[in-house]
Amino acid sequence: MRLLGISGSPSHGSRTSRMIQQVLDAAAQQADVETELLEVVTSGAILCDGRPPEAYEGATRQVIDKVVAADAYVVGSPMYRGSYTGAFKNLFDLLPNDALAGKVVGLVATGGSDHHFLALEHQLRPLLSFFRAHTVPGAVYAQNLHFVGDELAEETLKACHLLAEEVVRLSRALTPGQAGPAYPTIIRRSDQQPSSTSTRVGQT
Ligand SMILES: Cc1cc2nc3c(=O)[nH]c(=O)nc-3n(C[C@H](O)[C@H](O)[C@H](O)COP(=O)(O)O)c2cc1C
Repeated sequence: MRLLGISGSPSHGSRTSRMIQQVLDAAAQQADVETELLEVVTSGAILCDGRPPEAYEGATRQVIDKVVAADAYVVGSPMYRGSYTGAFKNLFDLLPNDALAGKVVGLVATGGSDHHFLALEHQLRPLLSFFRAHTVPGAVYAQNLHFVGDELAEETLKACHLLAEEVVRLSRALTPGQAGPAYPTIIRRSDQQPSSTSTRVGQT
């Protein structure tokens, strides 16, 4: 199983990345789980400009391909203005609509206080639902009080381990490629004609 961590923090030395890495490390203890962390801050991906996903090149192409190739995910973002960061959303704007279809996703987030933990439920989870991914119930949220220096406090570390177990367990229980019905047709840019270059949800 290729388990990909995706961190939406635009900061180097990100706490969100560190937390995702903890989940990946815990998952990697299990047999046949390969892990990798993709950070938007170092990915080199450009801003989504409305072209179809297959038209991107270079570092952006590599990011898209890496996400598409993974079997399961741990995705996370710092809270910015009560939601995920713009950089996090940009990565998902770049992806084909079926990139995560039927795959399992664990969610994490960090914030400066507890005030915005529910953004996990009303911002991150619906975004992943659009992609027809299976999100693990529950999530890990940490704010300043959940860190001791650069290290995660024990309770949060335990939550990371539980999330790792659930991502792997659920992913193994599901049949790859089974994602339920696709959504209606989406046209990415107004200059594209539906007959020739439109994209269908579930395809691009
Ligand atoms: C522009 C900006 C907006 C932020 N907005 C929020 C917010 O709405 N709620 C919150 O709890 N923390 C907010 N924070 C604090 C970050 O979410 C917090 O410091 C986070 O742990 C940083 O994660 P990172 O180290 O992975 O970048 C904001 C920080 C920045 C820079």
